[in-house]
Amino acid sequence: MSKNILVTGSSGLIGGIILKHNSKNNLFGLDIVPCSYPSHEISDISNSKKLENIFLENNIEVVVHLAGKTSVSGTWDNLIGNNFDGTANVFEASKNSGVKKVIFASSNHAVGLFENDDPYKQIVSGDYKDVKDYDLIKSNCEVRPDSLYGVSKAFGENIGRYYHETFGIKVACLRIGSVRPVDTPIEGDSHRFFSTWCSHKDISGLIEACINSENIGFNIFYGVSDNKWKIWDISDQQKILDFHPQSNAEIFRT
Ligand SMILES: NC(=O)c1ccc[n+]([C@@H]2O[C@H](COP(=O)([O-])OP(=O)(O)OC[C@H]3O[C@@H](n4cnc5c(N)ncnc54)[C@H](O)[C@@H]3O)[C@@H](O)[C@H]2O)c1
Repeated sequence: MSKNILVTGSSGLIGGIILKHNSKNNLFGLDIVPCSYPSHEISDISNSKKLENIFLENNIEVVVHLAGKTSVSGTWDNLIGNNFDGTANVFEASKNSGVKKVIFASSNHAVGLFENDDPYKQIVSGDYKDVKDYDLIKSNCEVRPDSLYGVSKAFGENIGRYYHETFGIKVACLRIGSVRPVDTPIEGDSHRFFSTWCSHKDISGLIEACINSENIGFNIFYGVSDNKWKIWDISDQQKILDFHPQSNAEIFRT
């Protein structure tokens, strides 16, 4: 059955991918700039009361929260309103308007400091020769943000946990790897995307699986394709969501 879904940050890259791949849900967009969603509102997530009214008026059941600043070099001044206050507003408005589920776009940068350690450091720099069997980084690993942006995503995960345990909202946090406008892992001689790439089909499939799953409580999933050199564990997606990503960056390797 189709659901009423509100996507914050609908004018951005992933918002557009969701619209393109949507099969059956009623999508409603919200962004500070116009988007191509048939139904959308131009609004800022800094306005909590307005968010609540929009959720209520449109009988929103699930919020996919993508809006925010996306730069790893983001400063406190531009993250505080958009990523910290804005995310808190989305959860508070969801609680007040009876939204059942929030899917939060977290980021691999919430745990980015693992990439300072071998073998992950070797892998993301493409130095595979000494890498033997290795443990994938699990969703319940220590939180190790590599930037204030990563801290803002760790905050989003934590406030999500609070709203789940205290108010019963179902929350899925997606530690997204690298979703790129051009849907390949190729960028110059960089190797990192061969580990972190998430294809458009896989990110939209993961979000749709989270929307449809009855098994979400509070969960964290890595949003990454099934790349040969991935560093994050995606087995939870299969177990909890019955979803397995289809793409593998390695087929682009020349
Ligand atoms: N693309 C990736 O590889 C990637 C990786 C990790 C995490 N993420 C996260 O996924 C989400 C979406 O990423 P994207 O690549 O589509 O980013 P994007 O920059 O293309 O889109 C973000 C959208 O949010 C909107 N926005 C920003 N501040 C807002 C506010 N205060 N109120 C309302 N709208 C606002 C922007 O106008 C923009 O359209 C972001 O939260 C990002 O941090 C993306």
